[in-house]
Amino acid sequence: MRHLPPMPDTPMIEHLVIFGATGDLAGRMLLPSLYFLDADGLLPEQLKILGSARTEMKRDVFVRHVHEILKQRPEGVDETAWRRFSARLDYCPADVTSAAGLKGIGEHIGDAPTIFYLALSPSLYGAVCKALQDGGMAHGERRIVLEKPLGHDLASSKAINAEVASVFEEGRVFRIDHYLGKETVQNLIALRFANTLFEPLWNNLAIDHVQITVAETEGVGERWRYYDDYGALRDMVQNHMLQLLCLVAMEPPADAGADSVRDEKVKVLKALRRFDRASAHQLSVRGQYRAGVVEGRQVPSYVEEKGSDSSTETFVALRADIDNWRWAGVPFYLRTGKRLPERRTQISIQFKPLPHLIFGERAEDDITANRLVIDLQPDEDISLLLMNRKPGLSGNRLQALPLSLSLADGGRRRIAYERLLLDVLAGNPALFVRRDEVELAWGWIDAVADTWAELSIAPKPYAAGSWGPAGAFALLERTGRTWLDE
Ligand code: BG6
Repeated sequence: MRHLPPMPDTPMIEHLVIFGATGDLAGRMLLPSLYFLDADGLLPEQLKILGSARTEMKRDVFVRHVHEILKQRPEGVDETAWRRFSARLDYCPADVTSAAGLKGIGEHIGDAPTIFYLALSPSLYGAVCKALQDGGMAHGERRIVLEKPLGHDLASSKAINAEVASVFEEGRVFRIDHYLGKETVQNLIALRFANTLFEPLWNNLAIDHVQITVAETEGVGERWRYYDDYGALRDMVQNHMLQLLCLVAMEPPADAGADSVRDEKVKVLKALRRFDRASAHQLSVRGQYRAGVVEGRQVPSYVEEKGSDSSTETFVALRADIDNWRWAGVPFYLRTGKRLPERRTQISIQFKPLPHLIFGERAEDDITANRLVIDLQPDEDISLLLMNRKPGLSGNRLQALPLSLSLADGGRRRIAYERLLLDVLAGNPALFVRRDEVELAWGWIDAVADTWAELSIAPKPYAAGSWGPAGAFALLERTGRTWLDE
């Protein structure tokens, strides 16, 4: 077995308990990720996976359910791998809100080192921690994994974190942001800190601005009960997008250790300029999709999906400024939305234009300023746009040459959760979000949300299949810039 050894001083985990094991996240991400890890020989040999939910269910029914989930995936199921994986699975119903309700789980895991994965509503996190403590199940060698959203604003986030902290100290709390498990995000860190080439240019002398786009073609659909209370700002910007921004903007850490990296991210969050009443209209745009056509398919509006009126945004574009020496004067434009024309997650680092052109007027139209593009989805790639001479005798004509900086390994593209689950098992918190990061991010998001509320800034409609309301274009155009690659 090639499984990773645990970090020094961390025990070999024997049980992974998934609360919410019959839910959407477990079915789409967690159970398939664990199966793939096992198929690749990466799960610790002794690990048992205990699914838990309120529903009474026999083990074999749960195992069949997991098999069905895996069979529906395009990768298919390898029968040998499945036999090994299914032998790890078990099921135990539980009421997670009381020690009595967790008794069955307690009997199952005994005193063994265990991870509790809470694929549940965050409103239950406090109660689950207390129930685990009351049941004597939260002792020293046990870890807890928490999914987003950790709160709805700074106050609620602090309350959840405090409830969790009263049972599990910070080193045993693993807050997932699945974007941190994506391969290209890891590669961005390697690109920045395993090369000498970029770091001297990584600042306001060479970089004009940064764009981060997370575009989805899917609508909110059946998730509106959750989504309507959150909207794009809280669902995407507070976590995934600010994490990407931090990784682009942070100072080089002294080492790749969990706290070194997270300390640097925290400094970025502290340097983010706060929104206020004077800047909100200029710096942010809210949108909500109407009916339209996405990828050739007619789709309904958000309000039709929900069945009643709503003032929740399904699109946000905003400009963030980082007030420090490195980034003074370099805007970070963030844009995310549902029902946009294509699925694309991309970070573009736009370098400054040439200071002077020596190739004559005709070449002027050929020139594109250098750009580093980091694609996370649908394809994973990092490319650097350089200018190059057009071959031949037709005078000095130039062309842009996108230079790919990533090598596909030809293997299956991993689910971001696979890496994160391995890290929890090994007790490595580097790719998990620390409490102060979450709270600083909420503080910044609160200022945006509060300003929108104070100024009654309502979402502007946009047709499904478009790139959002007109204001999203004006956001850049007012400084002579445009969104890249549309
Ligand atoms: C989740 C959000 O955290 O991330 C969803 O709640 C969103 O609304 C999803 O669709 C996007 O993740 P990915 O990995 O598909 O880009």
